[in-house]
Amino acid sequence: MTEKYCFTVGDDGQKSLDLLDITFNDQSKYFLNKHGLQQGMSVLDIGCGLGAMTQFIAEMVGDTGSVVAIDNSENQIKAAKHRCPEHLQARINWQVADVYDLEKLEKRFDLIYCRFVLHHIHKPRLALSQIAKILKPDGIYIGIEGIVNNVFSIPDNAAWRSNNFPIEVEEGTGRNGNIGKILPTLIRGTTMNCIDAVIYQPMLLSSSIRQLLLVGECFESKQHQIEGGHLTETEWQKKYDDLKACIDDESILIGFYAANFTASRKVK
Ligand SMILES: C[S@@+](CC[C@H](N)C(=O)[O-])C[C@H]1O[C@@H](n2cnc3c(N)ncnc32)[C@H](O)[C@@H]1O
Repeated sequence: MTEKYCFTVGDDGQKSLDLLDITFNDQSKYFLNKHGLQQGMSVLDIGCGLGAMTQFIAEMVGDTGSVVAIDNSENQIKAAKHRCPEHLQARINWQVADVYDLEKLEKRFDLIYCRFVLHHIHKPRLALSQIAKILKPDGIYIGIEGIVNNVFSIPDNAAWRSNNFPIEVEEGTGRNGNIGKILPTLIRGTTMNCIDAVIYQPMLLSSSIRQLLLVGECFESKQHQIEGGHLTETEWQKKYDDLKACIDDESILIGFYAANFTASRKVK
């Protein structure tokens, strides 16, 4: 099975990342600060997407710090660079690079931040070993990864309920949307110690935020689902209509994806 990122990249992909930014950025900023993000640090942001969190990190490290932001999509890097305000550009080195090839960066970091990337790739153990290699001794890895099985609706609605995907996927055989759940276990197999892990799950309350769910769940994955033979066009339309009805019914509570916020320290 070849690895292929299943969402739109570049400016057109903003809507699906909007929902992640709205629901997870505040908690991500809190967690980075809690684990020592500070002025003067050298930081790597892996799979930076459109760079909203990269900008926050660049603000925090200040003029004496530096950020390398990588993504394996050229379009994503181009769009992220374009969105970045002028005063932060000098602090950020944007690069097209793969999480599997981190040694090619030829740099060691005080802190490595990586959010919602390992659950898209097929060899997360390999990626974690790369991350551990390029952390400075005592450096910090902040890994935030999804647990898609945790989604729920109350009252329970078939349009938005757990997919019951496997919790463990054999390395190299496919992506694991529940990797957040086992991230501390995977980290144990590296030269890093996991020192904090918190599962956080936002609920989607406002109508405008709930509508964004249709973008990621339906439009974004439409091509992937149909081309991949997972759904026919008619099945996709039914899935869309059912989810829209669920979202439009404000009496139904919607629990979004959960994510495990982990902090790990490189062994000296
Ligand atoms: C769901 S987005 C997350 C973006 C951002 N980290 C955030 O939390 O908003 C996943 C990102 O990882 C990038 N990506 C996927 N596979 C990658 C790989 N092997 N190496 C580097 N980046 C990758 C995608 O292009 C995409 O921008």
